[in-house]
Amino acid sequence: MPESLRSSRIIGTGRYVPSRVLTNFDLEKMVETSDEWIVTRTGIRERRIAAENEACSDLALAACQEALAMARVDAKEIDGIIIATISGDMQFPATAAFVQDRLGATNAAALDVSAACSGFIYGVSMAHALISSRQMNRVLVVGAELLTKFVDWSDRATCVLFGDGAGAVLMEPCAPGEGILAIHMKSDGSLAELLCIPGGGSRHPLSPTTYSERLQYIKMKGDGVFKWAVRAMVDASHAVLEQSGHSLSDVALVIPHQANVRIIDAVTERLEIPRERVLINLDRYGNTSSATIPIAYDEVARANRVKVGDLVLFTGFGGGFTWGSVLLKHAISS
Ligand code: ACO
Repeated sequence: MPESLRSSRIIGTGRYVPSRVLTNFDLEKMVETSDEWIVTRTGIRERRIAAENEACSDLALAACQEALAMARVDAKEIDGIIIATISGDMQFPATAAFVQDRLGATNAAALDVSAACSGFIYGVSMAHALISSRQMNRVLVVGAELLTKFVDWSDRATCVLFGDGAGAVLMEPCAPGEGILAIHMKSDGSLAELLCIPGGGSRHPLSPTTYSERLQYIKMKGDGVFKWAVRAMVDASHAVLEQSGHSLSDVALVIPHQANVRIIDAVTERLEIPRERVLINLDRYGNTSSATIPIAYDEVARANRVKVGDLVLFTGFGGGFTWGSVLLKHAISS
């Protein structure tokens, strides 16, 4: 390929979800809710919950190991590790630093990206830019979250929604017109307070007051997020199609962020794409935030649900607010 032009593609995927399953029926015993309410309003039936001694890097590490094994690439060949998370091991250092060490990725830079549920899309965009500009050759991008440790288990409006898990992809250079075809990212910080964890940062450092006001937990105005999420994912999907000169009829599979099946249904309807071309797995995992898209893509890749050359569209939204889409040509053969 000409010296100046190159794109990037995904050559390996991996996922890890904790073994403990929490069903809607288990939740009925914890808060005033019902399986019927949760399934009808969200589509979620069960979610995975990390063990007490599990941290974000444990989940991310396992997903990265799978992605490297699929691509048959040694950890020492990795130039960068980007972890999208809002539930990292510590305030600092970055969770990616722990993963770098435990993977033995001794030649890699390591950093975290904070863009809530859009974090994986933002991470892929950064990896694509680093690879296209020839600063790096092989980059791991991970979405990894343990939001169940930041959920108020007495708040039925939020505790039923989230689950834990991690998904990873390995990216490498490829010719233009292959791999990543288009990326679109946006944000609107004026909406930050609709979805946030207010306590624990420099605005409200942890103190007896933050604990008594329960500021260390996820706060969400669900209806505001809902309406806006649909518009954001539809707009971002149209943006990548326009950029690349494709139409939705060219797309084999849309992998939307998995927050609520009604959001996904509304996006499906507005995009006018058949439902069988839209991936849904939130019934089994709930909302794993930045991990929903890479977990789903790993399931798709391993099940050969798409073939090499098929177009796949990722679209997501999250706290910030942030949103975005990635259009890519699938490059993993079975
Ligand atoms: N079980 C039973 N009843 C409940 C529950 C529950 N788990 N939660 C809320 N309710 C009640 C409410 O109290 C309310 O009762 P009221 O009418 O007596 O006041 C009633 O159900 C309806 O509540 P709504 O909030 O209107 O329910 P809605 O249909 O909007 O569904 C939901 C709520 C599921 C949160 C929805 O708004 C949603 O999915 N929003 C988007 C959320 C989202 O995507 N968040 C993740 C963002 S990703 C990130 O960046 C972390």
